[in-house]
Amino acid sequence: MSEPTVEKENLPEELKPDVDLNALEDPEEARAAADRLREALRYHNYRYYVLDAPLISDVAYDALIQDLKALESEFPELQTPDSPTQQVGEEPRDELGLVEHPLPMLSLKAAYESAEVHNFDETCRRELGQDSVRYVAEPKYDGLAVELIYEDGRLTVAATRGDGETGEDITTNVRTIKEVPPRLLEQGDRPIPEHLIVRGEIYMRRDEFRDLNQMRVDEGKRPFANPRNAAAGSVRQLDPKVTARRPLHIFLYVLVEADELGFETHWDALHALPRWGLRTNLERLGRYADIEKAIDFHRTLAELRDDLPYEIDGVVYKVDRLAFQTQLGSRSRDPRWAIAYKFEPRQATTSLEDVVFQVGRTGTITPVAILEPVRIGGVEVSRASLHNQSEIDRKDIRFGDTIVIERAGDVIPHVVKAIPDARDGSEEAIEIPASCPACDAEVLMSDDGKQASCPNPNCPAQLRESVTHYASRGAMDIEGLGEKRAEQLINADLIVRLSDIYRLTVEDLVALERFAETSAEKLVDEIEASKETTLPRFLYALGIPEVGAHTAEVLAQHVDSLEALRTASKEDIERIAGIGPQISRSVAAFFRDERTSELVDSLLDAGVMPVNPYRDEAQRPLAGLIFVFTGTLGRWTRDEVKRLVARLGGRATSGVSGETDYLVAGPGAGTKLEEAEDRGVVVLNESAFVELLLERGVDESDVTGLEM
Ligand code: IVH
Repeated sequence: MSEPTVEKENLPEELKPDVDLNALEDPEEARAAADRLREALRYHNYRYYVLDAPLISDVAYDALIQDLKALESEFPELQTPDSPTQQVGEEPRDELGLVEHPLPMLSLKAAYESAEVHNFDETCRRELGQDSVRYVAEPKYDGLAVELIYEDGRLTVAATRGDGETGEDITTNVRTIKEVPPRLLEQGDRPIPEHLIVRGEIYMRRDEFRDLNQMRVDEGKRPFANPRNAAAGSVRQLDPKVTARRPLHIFLYVLVEADELGFETHWDALHALPRWGLRTNLERLGRYADIEKAIDFHRTLAELRDDLPYEIDGVVYKVDRLAFQTQLGSRSRDPRWAIAYKFEPRQATTSLEDVVFQVGRTGTITPVAILEPVRIGGVEVSRASLHNQSEIDRKDIRFGDTIVIERAGDVIPHVVKAIPDARDGSEEAIEIPASCPACDAEVLMSDDGKQASCPNPNCPAQLRESVTHYASRGAMDIEGLGEKRAEQLINADLIVRLSDIYRLTVEDLVALERFAETSAEKLVDEIEASKETTLPRFLYALGIPEVGAHTAEVLAQHVDSLEALRTASKEDIERIAGIGPQISRSVAAFFRDERTSELVDSLLDAGVMPVNPYRDEAQRPLAGLIFVFTGTLGRWTRDEVKRLVARLGGRATSGVSGETDYLVAGPGAGTKLEEAEDRGVVVLNESAFVELLLERGVDESDVTGLEM
């Protein structure tokens, strides 16, 4: 959820039950309170996961979960397997059990050309004795097929497809997926059937897949080849806690024996699912009176493919009328009422001409294959990731090899495998160099061969990546400071460390090649404007290992300010919902480390002022006020007081201007005092400043000047 929802004042009481835990002594009352909380949580899950329209903020949601957890630990008999608190994973097992499917899970006949789809339609029409047949068209998701069985509205079984007759029991794992309701919702017009079997696809979004893989590479683990493998690997885990930490989603696309539940069409059945809390992709469904009209859906979706957040590999056409489906039946493993019309493949064969070794912002060295350019799905590909030395060795990939590469949407293409039969003997082994290609420092290699890194903190390649990341759109959003520019500024010694960005002047820039006066001015303005930023952006921009844009957002939601996060312990951070031990360790270590801590100070000293958008004005008592400090203060150093002001929501600038609200002058004040007086700016001495802080509700402990 990127935009926080505001707790709706007029939300009915049952959706924000306020439980006074201290007052609950009677088990009956506790049970009633737990029921109220669960009911509300189920509804909020449905709003969030199915409708994508939450009514309450994450924080308010967490509060409800915490209340329920507290109740359940006080009264253990209230804990039920379908409680929303149980969606976090149980104990690991030795192996996944097996489940027999009540009805076989079929696969789909695949078509690669429209003629095959027309043939399919012809057969349907002939067998059904119809002039035309109506079809529902859906994306063919590239994930893992699952079956969910609900008995009396409770999820009892979740299983993989397996061989179609018997699948693996993944119930406890699937219970950790937030989009899978442990209990169906009962909503007005349609009672919950006693038995309900639905099937669908569990998938991982592309951006989440990329983040997960990055994290795995950083940890020296083998990356997943594609989102499908990542989803399958996550679901087929022996330890449900691992599944619980993976970003998994579901789309349901078949209601089994829908006719027996009173539906006439597949379309109607799919539209009923969300009302029970079962997530379907109604947005991407089409219903067409005949195959001619339906065929177009394939082209439209193919064009949309790269823009969808999830992977699809074709379109599925299904006969809409359920009675017709029954009449057509199935042959061997495939239903005769459905067909998959696949997209062009995303793999291609080409030759590996060279390998370059890229240095990332944390120093990680990644081998990248330079290819003989090849087109995949309309895009020319000339580079592909080789991940790390251990992957190169495992796949036995050599210079000059003929290789298979895969491009999955906007994910960086990667090398799938080499084709050893195509070798002529001239191929050579690929090895990570012993010294950094950018700075010549000796490369450090982890014992398992999975992580090579440049240990030089001043490595220009690392700095270039840090600057580029810092300036990127999702971070500080400094337009015009891309990789090329960053490199140019570093080579000219204008940027030696990240905070030097804020020292750049128009004069510095115009002296460089390819810098006109206007673009220099524009860049300096952009850099200046970036100082006013939000806490999540700043946290993300710092490039803390493990902290992507989403995690930065979660951290900001749960801390008051940057200062609070900087001083928080690993344990404090780990208490935040959605933050695991790995992230908390990384964040705490980042702020403890002398070098990175200095980096943060230098950015704040340069005037960067991250404001936490998740905290209201009450927690930012100096919001909107601009201060200038001059002379010496007794309680604080200049840097300390500037940071204090920033933490309280105000701004401290170096020069007096028309915007300045207060000049705080200590002994030894210089020309700024005169300037302020000329401009009619209010001048405060230190004690008047302290008084102002206290008046605005700033905590006493903040004005002692200690513990900064
Ligand atoms: S319908 C009898 N609908 O494709 C109907 N399947 O090759 C069979 N799949 O294992 C399933 N998207 O994992 C259906 N919209 C969709 C689908 C879909 C992906 C997968 C499913 C199945 C495979 C069949």
